[in-house]
Amino acid sequence: MTAFAVSRAYHFSAAHRLANPALSDEENAEVYGQCFRQHGHNYVLEVTVAGALDPATGMSVDLGMVDAVVKTAVLDRVDHYDLSATVPALAGVITTGENLARTFWQWLEDALPPGSLERVTLVETANNVFEYHGETTPAR
Ligand code: NI
Repeated sequence: MTAFAVSRAYHFSAAHRLANPALSDEENAEVYGQCFRQHGHNYVLEVTVAGALDPATGMSVDLGMVDAVVKTAVLDRVDHYDLSATVPALAGVITTGENLARTFWQWLEDALPPGSLERVTLVETANNVFEYHGETTPAR
């Protein structure tokens, strides 16, 4: 069976600052540099979902379903929020690109058809792109 993977891009804007509560301000400034200060990003979230081609429609993934899931599971929870302070589901998460990509993966995986999520890519800036593929490669 040939499987396809379809990626779709979404935008959200959010504030954050990087800090480990176990460290002092001086140590956090040393570790995170200017990211220790409050700032924001216009993020791009790319979600890649795999599926088998439906010969009747010529499509492998129901993008309307994916849009609805991404909106409910991720965008509604983060868009125009302060990720480091006002998102309860991110409490205790240091909001690096890596941690956000993994967290969004977890939120999406629970809401998408089992095994269909292939990749979550978080574009933080034009220079910083974070990909998460899950902890294990799903057998298919
Ligand atoms: Ni940042």
